[in-house]
Amino acid sequence: MVTEVHIRELADTKELQAATALITKVWQAENPPVPFTFMRALSQAGAQVLGGYVEGRLAGVAVGFQGRDAQGSLLHSHAVGVDEPWRGTGVGRAIKFGQRDWCLERGIKRIAWTFDPLRVHNAYFNLGRLGAVGVSYHADFYGPMNDGFNRGIPTDRVLAHWYLTQDGTSPTPCAAPSPDVTLLDIGDDGWPTSNAATFRSGADVRLRVPPTPPADPPTVLRWRLALREAMEPLMHTGYRWTTAAADGTYVLTPPTEDAQH
Ligand SMILES: CC(C)(COP(=O)(O)OP(=O)(O)OC[C@H]1O[C@@H](n2cnc3c(N)ncnc32)[C@H](O)[C@@H]1OP(=O)(O)O)[C@@H](O)C(=O)NCCC(=O)NCCS
Repeated sequence: MVTEVHIRELADTKELQAATALITKVWQAENPPVPFTFMRALSQAGAQVLGGYVEGRLAGVAVGFQGRDAQGSLLHSHAVGVDEPWRGTGVGRAIKFGQRDWCLERGIKRIAWTFDPLRVHNAYFNLGRLGAVGVSYHADFYGPMNDGFNRGIPTDRVLAHWYLTQDGTSPTPCAAPSPDVTLLDIGDDGWPTSNAATFRSGADVRLRVPPTPPADPPTVLRWRLALREAMEPLMHTGYRWTTAAADGTYVLTPPTEDAQH
């Protein structure tokens, strides 16, 4: 189902308070991940605070700010959240494209954000649908967090870059290669199995993770550490995470001349 979503910048107090409340609810957090005062400051400073409205009601929010790295200027997207009733109806995609349009209007050609590599839905959305690329792995990026998504496990994140100039507007997702090597797989007991011995440097690599994050804390921690062990060294040597399927099959590709894919 695709919903008609009206995207616009948020600036007045009530709208910004509603955006703070929505993000707090989506992250199942006790304290607002983006407090109202900070939301207000971001809006005032010309950073990106966007709302996605469906039939006049706030259904999703994006918060980002401009930054810079060795490749030049970028928008760092700090939080994108869609309220539960509208998930899977196209609001998230509309908001990401709203972020893209906002950037292109300002001459910004790249959006960066971090996401949890154990959350297959997000990986698929980011890489498989939008065409972003995972460029680096960050173990325990935020330190311990106490919200519904992060409680009890290290907050590992992958940094994604979404290049907005290919084909004039935004990239197409990479075609999925078929690697010979499955470095990480799902065992019969649901726990990770590593096949590190089969790895040849320079080859495409497949990793498999559970499509839905495991519910029990020991298993999710086991997966966190196994995925880190497989992914972090590869990404440190220049591998890029280029494809993610909705069934939890990931592909990492070795460094190429074309750093984007
Ligand atoms: C991630 C998020 C923003 C996506 O928003 P959304 O409105 O659900 O996304 P859309 O409906 O636009 O769907 C985008 C794609 O994801 C897919 N998708 C949606 N829900 C899915 C689910 N539960 N499982 C797997 N894929 C799903 C859609 O099928 C669509 O792909 P398609 O074009 O192949 O159909 C939303 O789920 C969310 O707010 N999650 C919690 C906060 C969060 O994790 N933010 C992102 C941090 S990177």
